[in-house]
Amino acid sequence: MQTLLVLIVFCLGSGVCINVIDLSSSDSDVTWTFESKNGSITGRGSVPGGIYSDLQRTGVIGDILSGFNDVASRWVAYDSWTYTGRLTINQIPDTNVAHLVLEGVDTVAFVEVNGSPVGSTNNMFVRYVFDIKSQLKARDNEIRITFVSPVEAAQLRSEKHFAAPECVPDVYNGECHANQLRKMQASFSWDWGPAFPSVGLWKPVYIEFYNSAIIRSMTSHAEKVGAHWDLKIVAHLESSRKRKQIGGRIRASIKVNGGQTLTVDRAFESTTRDDGTSEAELNMTISENVISFWWPNGFGDQPLYDLHLRFTSDDFKETYEIHKQIGFRTLEVVEEDTSLLSCNDTAGPGLSFYFKVNGYPIFMKGSNWIPANILPELGSDIKTVDELLVSAREAHMAMLRVWGGGVYESDYFYQRCDQLGILIWQDFLFACSMYPADEEFLETVKVEIEQNVINLQHHPSIAIWAGNNENEAALRGNWYFTNPQFIKYKKEYVKLYVDTIKPIVEGLDPGRRYVASSPSNGKESEEEGYISEHPYDPHYGDTHYYNYLLDNWNQNIYPKTRFASEYGFQSLPSLATMRTATNNESDFRVDSAYSVHRQHSPGGYGFIQDQMNRYFRLDKSDTKYFEKLVFYSQISQAMAMKAETEFYRQSQADWYTMGALYWQLNDVWQAPSWSGIEYGGKWKMLHYFAKSFFAPVLVSPRLLLTHDVDIYLLNDRLVPIASGIITVDFFNWTSTTPMRSILIAANAHPLSSIKVPMSIALWKEEINEVFLRFSLVADGVGSSPYNYVFPIPFKSVKGLTKPNIQINVLSNIKPTTNGFRYTVEITTDTVVLFLWLETQEPGRFEDNGIIVTDPRITVNYVSNKQMSPQDLEKSIHYHYYMQE
Ligand SMILES: *[C@@H]1O[C@H](CO)[C@@H](O)[C@H](O)[C@H]1NC(C)=O
Ligand SMILES: *[C@@H]1O[C@H](CO)[C@@H](O)[C@H](O)[C@H]1NC(C)=O
Ligand SMILES: *[C@@H]1O[C@H](CO)[C@@H](O)[C@H](O)[C@H]1NC(C)=O
Ligand SMILES: *[C@@H]1O[C@H](CO)[C@@H](O)[C@H](O)[C@H]1NC(C)=O
Ligand SMILES: *[C@@H]1O[C@H](CO)[C@@H](O)[C@H](O)[C@H]1NC(C)=O
Repeated sequence: MQTLLVLIVFCLGSGVCINVIDLSSSDSDVTWTFESKNGSITGRGSVPGGIYSDLQRTGVIGDILSGFNDVASRWVAYDSWTYTGRLTINQIPDTNVAHLVLEGVDTVAFVEVNGSPVGSTNNMFVRYVFDIKSQLKARDNEIRITFVSPVEAAQLRSEKHFAAPECVPDVYNGECHANQLRKMQASFSWDWGPAFPSVGLWKPVYIEFYNSAIIRSMTSHAEKVGAHWDLKIVAHLESSRKRKQIGGRIRASIKVNGGQTLTVDRAFESTTRDDGTSEAELNMTISENVISFWWPNGFGDQPLYDLHLRFTSDDFKETYEIHKQIGFRTLEVVEEDTSLLSCNDTAGPGLSFYFKVNGYPIFMKGSNWIPANILPELGSDIKTVDELLVSAREAHMAMLRVWGGGVYESDYFYQRCDQLGILIWQDFLFACSMYPADEEFLETVKVEIEQNVINLQHHPSIAIWAGNNENEAALRGNWYFTNPQFIKYKKEYVKLYVDTIKPIVEGLDPGRRYVASSPSNGKESEEEGYISEHPYDPHYGDTHYYNYLLDNWNQNIYPKTRFASEYGFQSLPSLATMRTATNNESDFRVDSAYSVHRQHSPGGYGFIQDQMNRYFRLDKSDTKYFEKLVFYSQISQAMAMKAETEFYRQSQADWYTMGALYWQLNDVWQAPSWSGIEYGGKWKMLHYFAKSFFAPVLVSPRLLLTHDVDIYLLNDRLVPIASGIITVDFFNWTSTTPMRSILIAANAHPLSSIKVPMSIALWKEEINEVFLRFSLVADGVGSSPYNYVFPIPFKSVKGLTKPNIQINVLSNIKPTTNGFRYTVEITTDTVVLFLWLETQEPGRFEDNGIIVTDPRITVNYVSNKQMSPQDLEKSIHYHYYMQE
């Protein structure tokens, strides 16, 4: 038995302290154990944690992401598990309230304290607060949480409240009816991920002791009115259910520019609801002179302001304080009749759909975020989240869509987005299914939406709420053969996303747009009763677009759209990443059981090979077929996403298209997927390409079917491009010296895409032998990446020869904030396609997959390891595309 230290967290002024006992397993005063149903498996448990990570840590199962272990360890999800926490409290604080707080319970569970039931749970996204005052006793206490198998719980609910589909496709190796549970939908498998139907206490657990009330969270709305900001702050208070009335003083203070602290303070009295909650409101008026705007990445800084909120109760003089960082920006989603715009002829019919931030219409560049880990308890890992978000920022992303099949991400995630200027399109967590709308389901959804909107609302990064992922499209498109019951499903759809979720979101967060689905037609879907005739209508709202049958490098295949919130193409992860899942060389074939097991997208390898074969020649009998397939698949994906993204950016003229978020930023395991970053953090070629195709200033060519080339100048800045000169260099594949060059004068308005009034005609007789390079020089434009047109597929070009490449690491090592920057010099005697640099050393090349058209280039390599230039040089190896 251990003695327990009561952690005193809030002890301010002369107020009485609020006591909290942290029940994390990292705290030595509490012991957690887990146990299977019949007791045959037991061990030390982790809180926060989960059964898969506990079984892995205690050696009962192997590395869950290795080989076929997702299926081999599925028995875990069929059993039921009990977590028991034992703790000694020498003296129970003598307070009115003793609450057990479970921040995250995954998912269906019963909770007992010292043998008495105190409650049950059925939603992993809800914070449960149980009154345990009468159960707690001095000295030894036991908290027991018994989890029902999520697979069984989903099946049982489905028998009563079936909602399509019957199950996920067989190739997912998944489980059925995830839609019945308020649980991370992807934990039952997805087309990019394995099934790990987890159970456990995935977020912190603690006991709170107090007498009056606490501030559970705060919401804040800043509105710009003339020369000041109106800041409305709401303290969300929580007390004992028995309490009817709360009174006290509420005080807010905020530190503004110049070091000054502004404070407001008032007495209040409020009546509590049945669940013990109530609110206290405060208003502040802040001069615009002491506040700086928060900007999305690429458009300005991200100043954040400390807001402290303090509550002191009248009766017990207890004080409770919370603290958040907020930002000041205006943001609206503009949906206007495009036929009324002055640019009527080019904006097409329909409604615009764009984000106006601080008064500026901003084209949103970014990607889609899936959970950082398939186990929810590991998804908040600070290092992983940080690396992914910093990678997004480095690629000029200003928006990520937190996709509806995952989780509401950790506080850390949203704080980092605030700091990095990454706006969040936040889906609510419903995806690719019909959903039940029975009373029990709707009741728990209400609590979930309320708690999570209150928790996230103050973040300047949150830009828009969406009710679900693709469920409007799924019902209209009859994805799950629901047509015979269309009316029933539509009714349930409206009940869930419109009658239940929408009013809660709009009530708590009146300043932000809520769209019922993504994709949807926005206002047009609303007018059509929320299931529009054509949810993918490109003239309204957002669209998701995938087409694996056409050539994805050809920009002429893509339909214009208002806002591309998903589009993508698959590639394979690197062999290095695959080797973390299997050491079996015989697995590295497309038809191995391993490769088949990892590809969840039906027909997936075929689509990758078809796209590859359009541009590359690769014989199936090639001894390095698989290795080359991996490389070519990454080139194919990078080039496809470059083509499609630049098409959308070119279409920005007159607010036609105003967003490009490709699918998907990250991965949860080592498998073929649409990601730009592999599981483990290695950038695929796509992510390197994103750095260029999302560059703020870019010359972007479009090769037309006639072999003419249109040229667009993209200017994603708040200032114009004046007196710019675009250079078009014509290269013969045989040489790094251009054959000839054309100079074109070009200007561009701020935040615009302009089509240069001059096309390049490629001569028919030379298209086999030449390619074009585009670059820009303009006042105030520090850098703009090269861009290229390759008129015919690489497999058919004439004159590409084997280069002589020299790699030389220079001696000028520069220290950076968390490591060292090395300069790698690369020289070549001819053009090199997709030069891919690798090293076993830790770190990252700042550019990769390089098209080398200069005889000498340099690439930075950043690493936290200090090494000699010679050692780094020796470790570097590379490959590139060469015709077979
Ligand atoms: C306990 O349950 C497991 C399944 O989880 C089963 O394999 C095992 O045989 C059972 N053991 C006993 C002693 O019943
Ligand atoms: C390793 O290779 C063998 C055949 O050579 C295969 O049967 C087995 O499934 C592979 N194992 C894993 C973990 O991939
Ligand atoms: C805050 O301002 C709003 C109007 O914006 C008003 O309705 C509300 O009563 C004010 N609250 C307090 C506590 O002054
Ligand atoms: C825009 O064009 C449509 C037809 O293309 C026409 O009916 C409408 O009057 C035009 N609006 C303006 C403001 O010019
Ligand atoms: C490209 O270079 C090769 C070799 O020098 C030459 O034969 C060919 O004519 C050149 N092509 C063009 C279009 O200039």
